[in-house]
Amino acid sequence: MLKKWSESRAPAGRVAYVNGRYVPFARAGVHVEDRALQLGDGIYEVAGVKNGAPSDEDGHLDRMERSLGELGMPMPMSRAALKIVMREMIARNKIPEGYLYIQTTRGAVKRDHVPPADGPRPTLIMTMRAIDTAGLAQRLEQGIGVSSQPDIRWGRCDIKTVQLLPNLLAKQAARKAGAFEAWLVDKDGFVTEGASTNAWIVAQDGTVITRDLSTAILPGVTRKIMLQAIAEAQIKVVERKFTVAEAKAAKEAFLSSATGAGVPVVTIDGDPIGDGRPGPLTRRIRELYAAKSGDKKA
Ligand code: PDD
Repeated sequence: MLKKWSESRAPAGRVAYVNGRYVPFARAGVHVEDRALQLGDGIYEVAGVKNGAPSDEDGHLDRMERSLGELGMPMPMSRAALKIVMREMIARNKIPEGYLYIQTTRGAVKRDHVPPADGPRPTLIMTMRAIDTAGLAQRLEQGIGVSSQPDIRWGRCDIKTVQLLPNLLAKQAARKAGAFEAWLVDKDGFVTEGASTNAWIVAQDGTVITRDLSTAILPGVTRKIMLQAIAEAQIKVVERKFTVAEAKAAKEAFLSSATGAGVPVVTIDGDPIGDGRPGPLTRRIRELYAAKSGDKKA
């Protein structure tokens, strides 16, 4: 049975940060020649904000640095400076529970496919959004459905680029099919990850399974902390591929991302997983993650 969930999105914060300035969100913008706009030449991060502080901050900044490095771009400013801007955004927007979106592009320069040798100043953008508390609570309580969709992305899905067209088309197809998230399936029939989440299942013997890291998936920051928390709790966990059929036969399934750690998946392509209700291990892992990531520190 397909579940209904809240589609509401909390409004964006009123203040954006663009290239050194805090500006009204409604008037924030970049140059028309920005390489992310013209060529998709940029990367991004999404970090949760809990109790007025960024969650898993260094994990996100580590991955940001890695994504930029893989594309031959420098960090737009020092890590210490980035942390100051992140805190300033939280304070100016007065959003203690939400998400910080960080985009860095190769900058604005005369259009050319070839990246400039000594590039323009990178563009740095930050925006914020409050948590849709009611929607998230509903998803955690009722679980969500996923729809399997072909993974048509490029060969470097480990880089968090702003080129999200295959992801959003898959998500759109999933929504049309009545599901909340798409589970992307590679040409060999294995699930890679969700369109904007990592994918997990719990086998009938209680083993937790998530795909091993490679260029086929994004190394989720939430995934990494969850794996550590699961191992520390001595729950059996394996990083390997699984098929849609294996997922359908699983006891439980869930998603992880900065926007939802341990969101129960209760149907795949309309077929129930386990008893079709959020499972106990999913809840336990969510709590273990929350304790480990410092979510409960206030
Ligand atoms: N998405 N896989 C993909 C393709 C993602 O886009 C994301 C994050 C994840 C989970 O990574 P993390 O645990 O670091 O959030 C996995 C963010 C939330 C987004 O695009 O909005």
